Amino acid sequence: MLRLPTRTLRSTFRSLSSYGKVDDKIVSLICNIVGPDNVTTSESARNLHGTDESFHPTRAPEAVVTPLSTSHVSEVMKICNSHRIPVIPFGTGTGFEGGVGALYGGVCMAMHKMTEIVEVNQSDFDATVRAGVTRHQLNDWIRADGLHFPIDPGAGASVCGMCSTSASGTNAVRYGTMRENVLNMEVVLADGTVIHTAGEGRRPKKTSCGYNLTNLFVGSEGTLGVITQATVRLHGIPEATAAAISSFDSVQNAVDTVVMILQCGLPLARIEFLNSDMISACNKFSNLQLKEAPTLFLEFIGSPSGVEEQAMLAEELCVGNGGENFSWATEHSEREQLWKARHNCWYAVKATYPGKHAYSTDVVVPVSHLPETVVFCHELAGEMGVPAPIVGHVGDGNFHCFLLSNQDDETETLRIKDFSRKLALKAQSFGGSCTGEHGIGLGKRELLIEEVGTGAFETMKIVKKSLDPLLIMNPGKVIDLDHLL
Ligand SMILES: Cc1cc2nc3c(=O)[nH]c(=O)nc-3n(C[C@H](O)[C@H](O)[C@H](O)COP(=O)(O)OP(=O)(O)OC[C@H]3O[C@@H](n4cnc5c(N)ncnc54)[C@H](O)[C@@H]3O)c2cc1C
Ligand SMILES: *[C@@H]1O[C@H](CO)[C@@H](O)[C@H](O)[C@H]1NC(C)=O
Ligand SMILES: *[C@@H]1O[C@H](CO)[C@@H](O)[C@H](O)[C@H]1NC(C)=O
Ligand SMILES: *[C@@H]1O[C@H](CO)[C@@H](O)[C@H](O)[C@H]1NC(C)=O
Repeated sequence: MLRLPTRTLRSTFRSLSSYGKVDDKIVSLICNIVGPDNVTTSESARNLHGTDESFHPTRAPEAVVTPLSTSHVSEVMKICNSHRIPVIPFGTGTGFEGGVGALYGGVCMAMHKMTEIVEVNQSDFDATVRAGVTRHQLNDWIRADGLHFPIDPGAGASVCGMCSTSASGTNAVRYGTMRENVLNMEVVLADGTVIHTAGEGRRPKKTSCGYNLTNLFVGSEGTLGVITQATVRLHGIPEATAAAISSFDSVQNAVDTVVMILQCGLPLARIEFLNSDMISACNKFSNLQLKEAPTLFLEFIGSPSGVEEQAMLAEELCVGNGGENFSWATEHSEREQLWKARHNCWYAVKATYPGKHAYSTDVVVPVSHLPETVVFCHELAGEMGVPAPIVGHVGDGNFHCFLLSNQDDETETLRIKDFSRKLALKAQSFGGSCTGEHGIGLGKRELLIEEVGTGAFETMKIVKKSLDPLLIMNPGKVIDLDHLL
């Protein structure tokens, strides 16, 4: 592996233009590896791959490469490393923190052509997929076996992209996040070396075998290597499912109920909170007639009798806290409609405020501080006079507030950044985190330092520099380049 002492690095990188350019020569070198159909410099492809779902402006890469195999990725990495060209991995571009923008040019490594589901081991409840496989594709494939992969960010993200951001979603309160569900990954490092984080072909459900490299790459946001394959846990589709909703007269009462339900140890499958602005957007977008009030969406799974028992207890707790119109959706179609509306929250908000930029906050707090944090967020929005639909995976203490700003209005953008920062600092002051599932990307690099402190931050820098000494892996994300030079 190529190593340079820090001093050389600093002088090499004094000007950022010292990153190599993707000129005709580089394009033809890459072309020799992946073939002409799998590399493009067309403007539309470059713009598409420099954008995600966040409000961060498009930063187009100089070329887009679509490798077909791990060895393609490895060979392309070798070329980029020897010419010091940035490489930005791209899954499906549904990220919320500007992770795919090519801040310093370079090559986008777009994984969507590596679509093989390598192995499903039904009896062991695990599957191995290549980087282009989305969570929907995996689920379609395994459904007939009575299995599912429950991690469900609202979008049809790639499984390896989800590894990169440590994604989760509504099911995490029951099944955990990507962190708990990845057993092994194949990763191509900056210099082209291919590693298997838990050893090639390994998929043990537990191990004490050395440092946990799998966990190091989960949440690394493309800054340490390209994930080309992941082995994930699968789960059985539950026998019985019931969903319910209940509306409350205040945010406080709704969120207090969540804490009580969790304290009772009820094994929930999902519990989501939506405030009245969010319900209003969902009603319009998904054609529902829910009361526009702070609302909980709940779901229980298990045996038919277990589900009934849990549900009755939850109903009692909701009603005890003033929850009204506790209603059950036991029909599959009715439940689907409800959860589809929940998953469409982001699009509902964008449709409700056309022409506005939306930004999603992502704080997480220990659940005992949840009511206070949600109320703080709600009031802050009130003070700032901004509409603030809130939706949250409240069973994990995680919630999102969607902030809206006028396109290109700098004062509004600043106001939103200020809001997001205040909320994040509040969450940190309660022992929580500035990001539960979206990652650091571009917008939260300063908050990362505040959250983990100098010692841990310096350690992260050491990890980054030793795995990627020329700083070509997704430069500028997670850790600002200024801190690395
Ligand atoms: C409507 C909507 C709802 C969402 N809801 C949730 C939610 O509930 N929970 C949640 O966690 N997220 C949510 N998200 C965010 C998003 O779906 C996740 O962040 C997801 O993990 C991104 O996956 P992707 O494949 O689209 O990655 P991309 O957006 O393509 O990339 C994200 C980051 O990962 C890196 N990356 C991607 N693929 C690889 C790879 N193979 N190897 C190395 N690095 C890679 C990229 O460089 C980038 O830094 C939502 C998004 C939308 C649009
Ligand atoms: C599951 O793994 C076992 C042990 O490695 C193997 O014998 C079996 O063939 C695998 N099954 C599938 C369907 O891959
Ligand atoms: C290592 O990390 C992965 C991913 O976070 C996790 O799923 C796995 O359980 C961890 N393994 C051990 C032995 O802790
Ligand atoms: C309950 O439902 C009734 C009839 O649909 C409606 O009139 C009432 O406003 C609802 N109340 C709440 C709190 O949702």
